[in-house]
Parts: sequence; structure tokens; C-alpha cells
Amino acid sequence: MKRFTDVHSLHALPDALQEALALKADPWAHASFGARKTLGLLFMNPSLRTRMSTQKAAALLGMDVMVLNAGSDSWTLETRDGVVMDGGATEHIKEAAAVMGQYCDILGVRTFAGLQDRDADYREDVMESFIRYAGVPVISLESATRHPLQSFADLITIETTKKVARPRVVLTWAPHPKALPQAVANSFVEWMRHAEVDLVVTHPHGYELAPEFVDGVHVEYDQDAALDGADYVYAKNWSSYTSYGQILSSDRSWTVTEEKMRRTNNARFMHCLPVRRNMIVTDGVLDGPSSIVIEQAGNRVVSAQTVLLQMLKAMP
Ligand code: CP
Repeated sequence: MKRFTDVHSLHALPDALQEALALKADPWAHASFGARKTLGLLFMNPSLRTRMSTQKAAALLGMDVMVLNAGSDSWTLETRDGVVMDGGATEHIKEAAAVMGQYCDILGVRTFAGLQDRDADYREDVMESFIRYAGVPVISLESATRHPLQSFADLITIETTKKVARPRVVLTWAPHPKALPQAVANSFVEWMRHAEVDLVVTHPHGYELAPEFVDGVHVEYDQDAALDGADYVYAKNWSSYTSYGQILSSDRSWTVTEEKMRRTNNARFMHCLPVRRNMIVTDGVLDGPSSIVIEQAGNRVVSAQTVLLQMLKAMP
């Protein structure tokens, strides 16, 4: 595997899921498989879970890890091609990626959507540049349009907690004071479409996700109807795709409450974190027995370890 950027990066999702469950049961099973290999992690945006879980995953495989925060403890990066670099950016992504490839056997990159230029975001200009110039395998630590390590962890979480063979999984939009990318929602839909689940996506009008992700998916504009009988409720905010990057609604009636959870089939509550309490979800739900957000975050180690192991196995 030369790149891990979406669900299609894995050769066979069922096999990867089985490998993940085996690693979850025995995390040290391949404790020296990554010995003498170096993982570089470049963050162009903040992170708690991705940063720590990926470092932990690498340690479980015996890898060395180097972490760099672009712009604060390295140079500010220019990501556009062909520009006169007379602005704030000091180093071009072409050199930066290629140099990091000299030091690292695998490179992880986090780069969020700018939410200004939809075409550039959905072309994945920045992530694709790293893949083009790094010369080593690249793992997405969340890109403009997807968060595959999160979605893989979400799938592992559902697989290990489900009480029915084919659960009803509801992805619900919820309000947030800032404009957020669509990456987590896009990616969750992408991965759930490959899983043994019945997926429903619910959001206010104007928050339709990109057709490449939701064409053919059950979209329900009535949140209460969507939640009826749900086995999992996955809450997430995203800004509008059609009115790109805009906040079209702050409707607090979309906040996931205990009352709303009572409509479900004793559903488990999920969120990728960080979460805005009493905006996305009430304290009562988040602190209550239905919430599995901490276990979900714990599974970020498992998804990262599985991907790293597959990349290491594919190396000469
Ligand atoms: N869920 C997630 O990616 O968390 P961080 O942004 O803290 O890494």
C-alpha cells in the first residue's frame, strides 16, 4: 500500500477489519515489525487524537516517530504551484515533502480543507502534492475531504459493539459555531457504504454532502424520523457543500438530546471528538451510558496500527 487516503486504499476491507480486530486483541503481536523504520507525522492543523494514537500505533510496531507542526516548529509551507513566493510562506511543499521522504519510511500528513475554493479542496491539491513529491508511502491523517483513519476506527467500534447483524446507523448533522469541513461526514458515509449497516444521513436543507459521497444513500431531512429505531447515532457538524464553507443553520433543535435518543433502539452515541458540549450533544447523552466516544477514540490506535502494519508488510 503506497497511500492510505480512503476506503479504496485497502485491498480488502473485510480482511483489514479482521486484522484490526486481531491487533485490538493482541496489540504487541508485531512489536518489532517496524524496527529500524521511521514514521514522520506532519500536522498543518491541530490534533490531539490523531497525533497521539498514530504515535502509539507506531510504538506498538517498534517504529521511530518524528512529529512536525508546520508553521510553528517548521517553516510555513507554500502549497500552490508556480507562484512567486513573495508572501508569508518560506518553503515550497515540493522540497518539504521530498526532504521528509529522505528521513522517513512512511509519512503521515494532516491538512484540512481551506473552505474557500471547493474545487481545490475536492481535488485534494495539498495531500496529492505530498503523495507526488514525498517518494515514500503517505497516510492521510485527515485531508480536505476525508478522514480515513477516523472512519476505520468508527467501523471497528461499530463492529465490536453491535447487537444486531445489520445495525441502523444514523449520521446526523448538529449545530456548531464555526464552519467545519465535510471530511469526517464524507468519510464516514464512504466507509459505512462498504459495511454491513443500514445507513441514514440526516441534515437540514442546504447541508447535502457531495454527490460523489451520497448518491444512492438514504437521506432523511426529518431528524426525528431518521432517529426512529437507530442502533447508532453519529453526530457531526459540517458546513455547506453547495454554498461552500457557509454556515446556513444554527438550529439548536438538531442538538442530540436524551429525549431524541429515546426515539432510538437504545442507540450508542458516537462522535469523532473534539465535541462542543450542549451544541452537538447534551451533557446527559455524552456522559450517559449510551456514549461510546471514548472507546471510539481508543480505536484510533487500532486503525492506525492496522494501516501502518499493512504498509510495512508491503515494503521490500
Ligand atoms: N478525531 C480527531 O481526528 O481528533 P483530533 O483532531 O484531535 O486528531
